[in-house]
Amino acid sequence: MQINVAAGALKELSAGALVVPVFADGKLDGAAAAADAELGGAIADVLESGEISGKPNETALLHAAGKTPSRVLVVGLGDRAKFELSSLANYAGTAVRYLGKRKHTAIAIALPVEVASAPARAAALVVEGALAGTIDATTYRTEPEKPIALDTLTILGSAGDVAFDTAALEVGVERGRILGEAVNLARIMALTPANDMTPRTLAARAEDVATRFGLKYHALDEDEMRAKGMGSILGVSQGSDEPARMIVLEYAGDPDSSDKLALVGKGITFDSGGISIKPADNMHEMKYDMCGAAGVIAAMSVIAQIHPKLNVIGIAPTSENLPGPRAVKPGDILRAMNGKTIEVINTDAEGRLVLADALCYARELGATKIIDAATLTGAMVTTLGHSATGTMSNDDAFRDEFIALSKQTTEKYWPLPLYDEFSQTVKSEIADLRNSTGRPAGSLTAGAFLKAFVGDVPWIHLDIAGTAYTDAETSFLAKGPTGYPVRALVAYVEDAAEHKSENANGNGSAQKVSVN
Ligand code: BES
Ligand code: MN
Ligand code: ZN
Repeated sequence: MQINVAAGALKELSAGALVVPVFADGKLDGAAAAADAELGGAIADVLESGEISGKPNETALLHAAGKTPSRVLVVGLGDRAKFELSSLANYAGTAVRYLGKRKHTAIAIALPVEVASAPARAAALVVEGALAGTIDATTYRTEPEKPIALDTLTILGSAGDVAFDTAALEVGVERGRILGEAVNLARIMALTPANDMTPRTLAARAEDVATRFGLKYHALDEDEMRAKGMGSILGVSQGSDEPARMIVLEYAGDPDSSDKLALVGKGITFDSGGISIKPADNMHEMKYDMCGAAGVIAAMSVIAQIHPKLNVIGIAPTSENLPGPRAVKPGDILRAMNGKTIEVINTDAEGRLVLADALCYARELGATKIIDAATLTGAMVTTLGHSATGTMSNDDAFRDEFIALSKQTTEKYWPLPLYDEFSQTVKSEIADLRNSTGRPAGSLTAGAFLKAFVGDVPWIHLDIAGTAYTDAETSFLAKGPTGYPVRALVAYVEDAAEHKSENANGNGSAQKVSVN
């Protein structure tokens, strides 16, 4: 898709359709007022008639034969007083899906006058949301139902009388393109069914990313993992003929610093549950059990392109979880890389087993901070539904900083506690730990299990089981994988790099930074 910024007047636009925002107060200003004047009051009319009221992502298409542009799509932005920049991603996604499915190939999108102080961020959000809107979950159909036809997207450089900084808009466009393409990369990897997305395929995709964008890549094979004592992930893998991999992508943005952020993503390419097999209902969705890994690989692709001054490694432990003849059995005891022994109570609690070794490995590779993302527990869907990602940590300030930065994106994160008693609960009678503890606080005991492998490294655990994919289409996103947690990981990395370089300029020493 071609993306550009137009500084000229509405009439000079070559786009066939113009998208303008309206707020729920019904007051027309900026681009909406200008388009309304052009259309002889047609926008005011659909608002006054009650046809639309400006609710978020509500749409009304106005036909204006003979005018330029000949179609105006009005999209609601909700309550003006509560306007947040991040809503622009869904605004743009809604427009792209609405018009793209109706054969429009060139559209222009206007921004509300409210964004004049942050044009780069606004443009980035619009482009990211527009790109995310373009893909559908129909990649395996011989004839997709309603392919989105869009090939040119123009961001308007002004809204009525208010002119935006076009250079900043252009910076934002490029930033949004990089993020939007990464979000889609993660989503396409996740959509790919498990027969085409094995641990080795996932590793090959990671290697592609490394080659295209310039990252160091290595994937440990099972012999290398055995040599490192990674008995926990190998235990999960032993029920499948497909060998596991421990994927590592490395970005050295600050070679003079010994700080290193590790992003760790669960990469179960199919989770049948193993011997503790899952019920058949919805088992097919367990091809999505590698969304954490896909998110980490995609986030690394962004990091490689935007060059933050920070060292980051991406680690994706990847395996199938199948009930083959050599599969790990309930009651078996595995030994993780740090020597801890784990009683496997339930072979379906495999995510924490592959992550245990990955977290140890992150520390061996020198991680001074760790963020993991995993479709870890069904209980997470009970707790927060599909609305927010449960966010657990051994460091409240780190967690709060991450959550605060995630608010710049459309992704939602919510803090959950890791009380010491949960760490007691995950102890086994016969071994150091047990991988399943029964129903109470299932997401938090899973978090407490992971905590046993991070030592005193500041760490955040993101349980994306409810947010990594949806079973309902929205106006702005197809059903299926959502791209969680790519946007928030990138927002965190960018901010961490900026604060670090500010500190380095100030007094030359790394300091803990708080964001408010
Ligand atoms: N991948 C699942 C978690 C999951 C379930 C994600 C539903 C998304 C939707 C995970 O491996 C799992 O099976 N967890 C078990 C843990 C239990 C056995 C302690 C679960 O949540 O039931
Ligand atoms: Mn499982
Ligand atoms: Zn799983």
